[in-house]
Amino acid sequence: MTTFATRPAAPPTDTARTPAQRLLGWDHIELWVGNARATAGFLMSAFGFRSIAYAGPETGRRDSVSHVLEQGNIRLVITGGLSADSPITRHVARHGDGVHDLAWRVDGAATAYELATARGARTIREPWVERDDRGVLRLATVGTYGETQHTFVDRSDYPGRILAPGYSAADRLPEPVGPDVGLTHIDHVVGNVEKGQLAHWVEFYEQVMGFAQLTHFDADQISTQYSALMSTVVWDGNDIVMPINEPADGLRKSQIQEYIEAYAGPGVQHVALATDDIVTTVQALRERGVRFMTVPETYYADAQRRLADVDLPWAELERLNILVDRDERGYLLQIFTETVMDRPTVFFEIIQRHGATGFGEGNFKALFEAIERDQARRGNL
Ligand code: FE2
Repeated sequence: MTTFATRPAAPPTDTARTPAQRLLGWDHIELWVGNARATAGFLMSAFGFRSIAYAGPETGRRDSVSHVLEQGNIRLVITGGLSADSPITRHVARHGDGVHDLAWRVDGAATAYELATARGARTIREPWVERDDRGVLRLATVGTYGETQHTFVDRSDYPGRILAPGYSAADRLPEPVGPDVGLTHIDHVVGNVEKGQLAHWVEFYEQVMGFAQLTHFDADQISTQYSALMSTVVWDGNDIVMPINEPADGLRKSQIQEYIEAYAGPGVQHVALATDDIVTTVQALRERGVRFMTVPETYYADAQRRLADVDLPWAELERLNILVDRDERGYLLQIFTETVMDRPTVFFEIIQRHGATGFGEGNFKALFEAIERDQARRGNL
């Protein structure tokens, strides 16, 4: 079992006035999909996740199944509905497969919920408890952009970090064979919102959740010849970092607008997963069949000029198509998968940071041009 000790939890006090002061980091990310068994199997074989628990009819749950996947300190819950009128099935019919819940570990689920709703958060589910012979798990859920939600998870009276009542480790999926991938933790999670809505959702995270603004990028900083977007990064001051994008006017349709139309509303665009050794990680992912965005060869001549003073394995980076960026604090290596659902919506980023705290701003143009090549192939540019 993985231990959870990425940072000491800042002890929230009874004087906590915002949900952010109760947050202890990411608990899990839940995807709602059309076929949980197949999506879990894909994420295991292609991305190297391990199945650690399952809930469904065999464990006493009638209306849905969930597979809990883990790698390093990352947990994904892959959930599918079992009937036509299930809210999960309806969600999938409308949005396609996607990210439904960005769940945070908290000290005091009810307190975090009360603070959030008192400050204007939308109630999805009032505080509830789940118990079994192992203990009591305390939960509460509020809404964010679109149909996406945040569940507050208090594990202080529930041993272990992984299982919850109703989940069985005995029914987990067998592990496929493949090279170690080595993903360690969630670095950031990016949401796309409709044109004109960025300020609203930044205010939501600041005023309701107690987050702070980390960075803002204007449309002229994130644009190509064809499409543009604006982005603001909010964070809880610790591990929870959430950039939010909105489409901006360009010559053609913004890739953010393509997402909004394909997902039928705002939602999570990408989940960035960290590694300590991106060359090994991307090599393993490629061997496992993951497809990535590509950049032109000219990218590397330019990148080597931008990072001339940094000793990097340039041949490996170019062979694997890994991108490089720097800021005043250091540098980072990153790569983006193609979208992993049928609709052009959700993708993953793989990132290794060496001091840099940015998001690959220097790569935005190269990345977006790569996305636009795919967008054009779909007839959406
Ligand atoms: Fe990112």
